[in-house]
Parts: sequence; structure tokens; C-alpha cells
Amino acid sequence: MVSARKDNLIIRIRHADIGKRVKSVAGQIAKDFKGERIHLIGVLKGACFFLADLAREIDLECSIDFIAVASYGKTKESSGQVRMLKDLDQTIAGLNVILVEDILDTGLTASYLLRILKQRRPKTLKMAALLDKPSRRLKPVKGDYIGFTIPNEFVVGYGLDYAERYRNLKDVCVLELPTR
Ligand code: IMP
Ligand code: MG
Repeated sequence: MVSARKDNLIIRIRHADIGKRVKSVAGQIAKDFKGERIHLIGVLKGACFFLADLAREIDLECSIDFIAVASYGKTKESSGQVRMLKDLDQTIAGLNVILVEDILDTGLTASYLLRILKQRRPKTLKMAALLDKPSRRLKPVKGDYIGFTIPNEFVVGYGLDYAERYRNLKDVCVLELPTR
């Protein structure tokens, strides 16, 4: 007989605290790029909530684009392989590009994306991530703008998913799956 199991969610970062931190990261970006135009590139799908909130808090002329890469699929572990699913709509040559990620984990996705974006000759290339899990890093990637540094826990919400679930949670929550 299969018994009903419920995933356990524990709030790690409250929506209000995310909002405050996003404002402060946006302020830092506006200061660093004072008087210039910036181009935000969101990594689908996880970064879309962060990008939408961040963009609205940055007091600069700003354009946006999205890129999609194959991620974890239905498991919690990275395959170690990164594959592009959707390329940018626009060219980025000469632009102040900020790559916007939901989370920097092993760094495999970010290092792949930063490498291919750099080849396209942006004026500047920076990276923003809502969350950073430095203890899991396999590639030496450092985010220029980090929302929160978190321990090695699997989190969902505010864009982050587990098998496409929980992206629409307002808070970032730790997901504890039932042990079988
Ligand atoms: P990386 O290539 O290992 O740095 O992983 C980056 C991607 O893995 C993120 O954009 C997420 O989609 C996914 N990921 C990594 N850690 C988590 C997590 O704790 N929760 C949900 N997704 C995660
Ligand atoms: Mg994901």
C-alpha cells in the first residue's frame, strides 16, 4: 500500500527580507553603473521572479533578455552537463550585461554562461544571484551581486523549483523530502 507523503517546507528567507535585500542590491547596481544603461539577462526559469523585482528597483535605463539552459531536471543533483535550450533574442556587444541567476550552486551553469556571453563582447559583464551556496562550488565563480549566502540546503520558492514545483512560493523555503 502507498501511503500519502507530504513534502516538508521550512521558511528560510521571508518575502519581506527578500524585498529589502533586492532593494539594496539594486541600489548597489545603480551606484556602480551610474548614468549608464544596463542589460539584464535572466536565466530561465528560476531567475524570473528575482529579475522582475530587481529590475523594478534599479534606477537606471534597463533592458532585459532571457536565456535558458538545461538544469537539474527532476532530481536534486546536477548532471554536471549544461546545455542551451533558448538563446538570447538580442546581441549584447557593447552592453553593460548583468547575468541574473536564482542561485549559484556548483557554478557549472554560471561559468558556462559567463564564458559564452564573454565571447559576444559585452562592454562589461557582471553576475547577480539571489542566493549563493559557496560550499558546493566546483567551478571558481564569484557573483558580483549576491542576495543571501546560504548553507548546503536544498531550497525552493521565489522562482526556485523542485521538479517544477514550488516556484510560486513567496518565501525561500528549505525542502525536506520524506525519507523512504
Ligand atoms: P549550478 O550549475 O550547480 O550552480 O546550479 C545552478 C542551478 O541549479 C540553479 O539555477 C538552479 O536552477 C539549480 N539549483 C541549485 N541549487 C538549488 C536549490 O537549492 N534549489 C533549487 N534549485 C537549485
Ligand atoms: Mg531549477
